[in-house]
Amino acid sequence: MDNSVKSLAGHRILNSTKISKMISDLVAAVQEEEKALGAIREPLAEALDNGKRVFDETGKFRGRALNYQFVGTGAGHGPYVEVEDGSVKMDLINGIGVHIFGHGNTRIREAAVRGALSDVVMQGNLEPNHEYAKVTKKLIELASKNSRLKYAWLSTCGTMANENAYKAARQKNTPAKLVIAMQNAFAGRSTMMAEITDNPAYKEGLPNYNEVLRIPWYDASNPKSSEDILRKFKEHVANNPKQVAAFVFEPMLGEGGYRTAPREFFIPILEFCKEQHIAVWADEVQTFMRTGEMFAFETLGIGQYIDLCTVAKTLQTGATLYTEEYNPKPGLVSGTFSGSSASLSAGYEAMEILTTGGYLGKSGKIQALHSEFIGMLNRLNETTCKGQLREAGGMGLMIAVTPLDGSKDKVNKLLQVLYKNGMIAFSCGRDPYRLRFLLPVIMQKADIEAASKILEKSILEMLQ
Ligand SMILES: Cc1ncc(COP(=O)(O)O)c(C=O)c1O
Repeated sequence: MDNSVKSLAGHRILNSTKISKMISDLVAAVQEEEKALGAIREPLAEALDNGKRVFDETGKFRGRALNYQFVGTGAGHGPYVEVEDGSVKMDLINGIGVHIFGHGNTRIREAAVRGALSDVVMQGNLEPNHEYAKVTKKLIELASKNSRLKYAWLSTCGTMANENAYKAARQKNTPAKLVIAMQNAFAGRSTMMAEITDNPAYKEGLPNYNEVLRIPWYDASNPKSSEDILRKFKEHVANNPKQVAAFVFEPMLGEGGYRTAPREFFIPILEFCKEQHIAVWADEVQTFMRTGEMFAFETLGIGQYIDLCTVAKTLQTGATLYTEEYNPKPGLVSGTFSGSSASLSAGYEAMEILTTGGYLGKSGKIQALHSEFIGMLNRLNETTCKGQLREAGGMGLMIAVTPLDGSKDKVNKLLQVLYKNGMIAFSCGRDPYRLRFLLPVIMQKADIEAASKILEKSILEMLQ
């Protein structure tokens, strides 16, 4: 560690070669046990009873059955994860986008162990440890390269990061309180974020506070889409003078269907926001680290417009980034937790690996994986699964495809068939429902080949 002071016990622990060696030996011993998990495996006869009991009990005690017969054993290897029934699955959803380096990654695990050795389990905003300081600094070093973002405030999930962003926008632009959001947006699970989320199934029985105005997402098939949406945006502002505090958008629509939009779509809207002093808030909870640059606002080249940006998932905790003007007054944001020592340490390491390992940029590993995976989906769609895997697309490690007839029922059934055949994926969008993948960046050609076989087998099974 730079600037380390020998008389400090904490610094001696960080610099101890003895402790470092023990951490790597420990991780290596764990990995030795995981060596056999590098390929898909059927459930094991001797583990089936235990698996069923664990799955049933997990559902029973949380009051809702598991979506998949999945409880992990805590062991995994690359894209593969071991399940309590003895099966090994290829995990292409990764905790909905958290495990960007897959399972059992050496550097991430060592960093997590190192964090776990801290004197405290959870860190907070009042008494942070050095991991908190490093994560905050790193986020801002990265974000400020291509934006005006200057500060970062940690919280423990995307929802809370979003709450803090919205509060900062409302405080700065008070008494304006409305937010303009996209149709099919997803923003999280708190009361306010459920309101911003445009999915009735996620807010059944909740009141509507009428604080969200909607614009449609970009429609590539309509040449007037950008113009029409800009007009709609302006209408909302004209109908609610000085009432709109923020415009929130996912740089690529996530839950809503993995839809992309070009830079030219965003720019006039963002210019208008600047004119009207409406906060521009990019919800990068899902896109952070995944689109080929650290931030999707960099991939799209819209960084200069961003006032607030929220991240989580791959960071292993949550954060709200803001500019000088949107730095909230001291009483507005706080919270007991900013993350566990292990998660902060691992989140920092994730940023280190991604920025130094050749992953970013047009010729980086993320873009290469994107092209290969999309190529594989298109090949299936043109050959053995003709017309059954349409509109493969997305950005970087976020990929979706419309399978079969795109109905909810078929897609949900397909997901279960995929699971049975060894692959964990998920859905997104509505009418059509799409098959969604959050690829781990460590996927190799052989894994893509294995994914292709499972997809083909499962689609053909569905067509029988
Ligand atoms: C775009 C977006 N915003 C917010 C959230 C909420 O994040 P969390 O589940 O960590 O609260 C998600 C989660 O999927 C998301 O994709």
